[in-house]
Amino acid sequence: MIVVASSNGKVGIRQAVETLRRGGSALDAVVAGIEPVESNPEDHSVGYSGLPNLIGEVELDASIMDGRTLAAGAVGAIRGYEHPIAIARRVMEELPHVLIVGAGAERFARELGFPQRDLLTPEALAVWRGRLERTVEVDPGTVKYLDRMAGLAKLAADPERPNETVNFIARDREGNIACGVSTSGWSWKYPGRLGDSPIIAAGNYADNRYGAAACTGRGEMAMRAATAHSVVLYLKMGLGLEAALREAMTDLHAVDDAYAGGMNIVALDRDGMPHAASNRPDATFIFMRDDMADYEERERLYVP
Ligand code: GLY
Repeated sequence: MIVVASSNGKVGIRQAVETLRRGGSALDAVVAGIEPVESNPEDHSVGYSGLPNLIGEVELDASIMDGRTLAAGAVGAIRGYEHPIAIARRVMEELPHVLIVGAGAERFARELGFPQRDLLTPEALAVWRGRLERTVEVDPGTVKYLDRMAGLAKLAADPERPNETVNFIARDREGNIACGVSTSGWSWKYPGRLGDSPIIAAGNYADNRYGAAACTGRGEMAMRAATAHSVVLYLKMGLGLEAALREAMTDLHAVDDAYAGGMNIVALDRDGMPHAASNRPDATFIFMRDDMADYEERERLYVP
């Protein structure tokens, strides 16, 4: 049994592994791992305290996929609910749909009795208000993106990197694999914008027969390259995990995108081997097996 996650999953990975140890499924573990990240006030890229869109509203996206059945559920641009990953799971389990968005997703969450919460924290609000000052240098693609969004709404750029998100992949004692993603998306995004996180095949894919992959970074890139599914397809075609990741990163490099910033993938093969890749140096990911006392943090494969 193993759980692999993006490095901001540190606050949830022990809980995810404990869920597996207690006999929980891979789906249970993914939700158990992601929920603490969604509640973490210090993480401005996911859930509560996520950075808002152009008009100051926090809109969340999440998806979950069951590698045993290829069932999937997702919500997009949902406001006022702290745990979109849990709502995505209920979409998968209770609706004859994969993805619901906006008012429909909020209606579904309300019908199920999910508690409502104001997700915009004073810290995130201060960052949004302070958007006229670029106090930290970010990469040129991000600067270009922020300048474009600033132009759209007569705003200016923000010092925070807008492209974090959380990824969790778990493999349970039956060998079943599940993959989950949750995000507040790109900060200052146009209202209603969805990235790759709620799009199955773009930001999230799991298939017990081959493995699973999930992305963080500029969602528009992963959508155009179908990145998560590509990694799994490359595994199906017989590539090893590292080669599959390298190939998917190479596909991303071919996508012409003026706003391109960091692109990152975490993955697990069908035998429970974890790995990850990034186009940034020194990026890391974490994993923890059920026989480990704590998680291990490793450097990602760097594919510039
Ligand atoms: N990868 C998260 C997003 O683009 O929204």
